[in-house]
Amino acid sequence: MKVGVLSGGGDAPGINAVIRAVVRKGILSYGDEMIGIQDGWRGLVENKFIPLNLKTISGLLPRGGSILGTSRTNPFKRQGGPQKVLEITKLNAIDAVVVIGGDDTLGVANKMTELGLNCVGVPKTIDNDLGLTDYTFGFQTAVHIACEAIDRLHTTAEAHHRVMILEVMGRYTGWIALEAGIAGGADVVLIPEKPFDLKEVCKFIDQRVKRGKMFSLVVVAEGAKPKGSEKIVYGTGSDEFGHPRLGGVGYYIGKEIEKCTGIETRVVVLGHLQRGGSPIAYDRVLATRYGIAAIDLVHKGQYGKMVALKGNKIVSVLLKDVIGKRKTVDLELYEIAKVFSG
Ligand code: F6P
Repeated sequence: MKVGVLSGGGDAPGINAVIRAVVRKGILSYGDEMIGIQDGWRGLVENKFIPLNLKTISGLLPRGGSILGTSRTNPFKRQGGPQKVLEITKLNAIDAVVVIGGDDTLGVANKMTELGLNCVGVPKTIDNDLGLTDYTFGFQTAVHIACEAIDRLHTTAEAHHRVMILEVMGRYTGWIALEAGIAGGADVVLIPEKPFDLKEVCKFIDQRVKRGKMFSLVVVAEGAKPKGSEKIVYGTGSDEFGHPRLGGVGYYIGKEIEKCTGIETRVVVLGHLQRGGSPIAYDRVLATRYGIAAIDLVHKGQYGKMVALKGNKIVSVLLKDVIGKRKTVDLELYEIAKVFSG
């Protein structure tokens, strides 16, 4: 078989580990010919490919980013886009495509499967907000980096008797904020799923001061918003899937907290440090397992499916059951965070 691989959407640590596993098992166990599709769905609209063989995958396991490149291209937003994808796939004699992506990229895979393209999905996003899988790869690395940032901010916050705000990623869900907040012992965790009241946040920080805690650490997901308000966006415009660029909630709450508590406050936006660089061991293993399972699904002819983690087992689920059903944070985890934070 000739199998194409693409990665779309925001990058996540572990994409290259998935590519390595798909290519290695494809070539050595199934005798496949592999081909890399460049920059997500754009490669199948614009006919952009790179070779994938045992040589090109050497040294990929710890490497961040994606050797294939990525983009937020949506063929369904381009004139004749889906037809182009089908034509270019045929022109290059590609039998099946392994699609590494989040809800948007896999949403396109689902629609293209309905149009006759043989797709298998691999769940990728540092946000961990894809349904029907316990974890997406890349998430644990992002949590690890955010936790380390909290640890570092703690010592400087304590030394200066300040409030430190850490803004982390999480467009629609607060998985990173919540898990890093629990792991790092944050005093306040603000997530998109629970709009916040700044008065209550300030009251909580004031109570800490009364207990002799002269510093506080606040973790806020970029998509968190004050009760009754909209999310805070960075500039105007949106991507081809309609998502605005978020950012700024950290600075907004930083100013307000300083005003209402009178405590000097500093803000750190962790941004793409959460996405770049090497995956931690957990994500390398998960990405490898996903890659192996994906090429196996291709050879079983199980198109329109996504590999997923359930408990500690790799399973497969229908793409159509995953798309558009955002996995919000586990409320049990939220209650645990609440024991330690305001
Ligand atoms: O979708 C994952 C994500 O990391 C979101 O948390 C974030 O809002 C978005 O990507 C930012 O992506 P970019 O800066 O690449 O547009």
